[in-house]
Amino acid sequence: MSTEPSAGIAGPATIRLRHLKQAKEQGRPFAMLTAYDQFAAKAFEAAGVEVLLVGDSVGTTVLGYDSTTSTTHQDMLTFTGAVARSVTRPLVVADLAFGTYEAGPDDALRHSVELVRAGAGAVKLEGGEEVAPQVRALARAGIPVFGHLGFTPQSVNSLSGHRVQGRDPEGAQKMREDALALQSAGAAAIVLELVPAAVAASVTASLAVPTIGIGAGPDCDGQVLVWQDMAGLSGFQGKFVKTFAQLRPQLERAAQQYRAEVAERSYPGPEHSFE
Ligand code: KIV
Repeated sequence: MSTEPSAGIAGPATIRLRHLKQAKEQGRPFAMLTAYDQFAAKAFEAAGVEVLLVGDSVGTTVLGYDSTTSTTHQDMLTFTGAVARSVTRPLVVADLAFGTYEAGPDDALRHSVELVRAGAGAVKLEGGEEVAPQVRALARAGIPVFGHLGFTPQSVNSLSGHRVQGRDPEGAQKMREDALALQSAGAAAIVLELVPAAVAASVTASLAVPTIGIGAGPDCDGQVLVWQDMAGLSGFQGKFVKTFAQLRPQLERAAQQYRAEVAERSYPGPEHSFE
């Protein structure tokens, strides 16, 4: 596969914040995918994906936790390092784990510095104007920070499950205010998750920094998906997910074939054996 992206952000050897901003200004949507390991990260880089998110979703997709609230800072350091060592072009964004930034700017700064040392080019945290002091502290320290509004998975318990946010006029207005507060504090981009398309479009239009949607319609400046959903490995088929491959049945077929050939002694053959 070509390493030259055909659309989105073409050209730079390393994707930086200014390229995402330019893409917004030029109306060229860019792609973000989660990545947690070297082979997936390298495949997405080869495909031209501009931003890799080492999401705290590593807890639910890789580590078998029920919720991202169980993902630890140490998990984030381990998987951020794995992805950052594996790619050179995409911007690598790492989530601040639940419990590592809510207490205040000092906590957020300490944990973000460790994520940057592990290789993150930016960090992401969830919440609106209540986390603006944290965003301001990180931006002042020179750490690019992404916000995350709408459905914020670390608050799954207080949001009463995975629900679309901002459906009512008050909720939509609060989201616009939160987005502006994050931008004023220095956020470099804002993820919008499970947001009505019209609300996401109006938030996007009101901001100078890019929005990145997941279940937030077509008018965000970029889109993000959890890679195992995108590639049909997880089996998750939420309304907003399009599966661009069917890896789960392919993997099952490969493992079945392997097992059958082991059982009948046709694998390993002479070509796989040493003299
Ligand atoms: O952790 C994650 O995968 C995320 C995406 C849902 C945006 O935050």
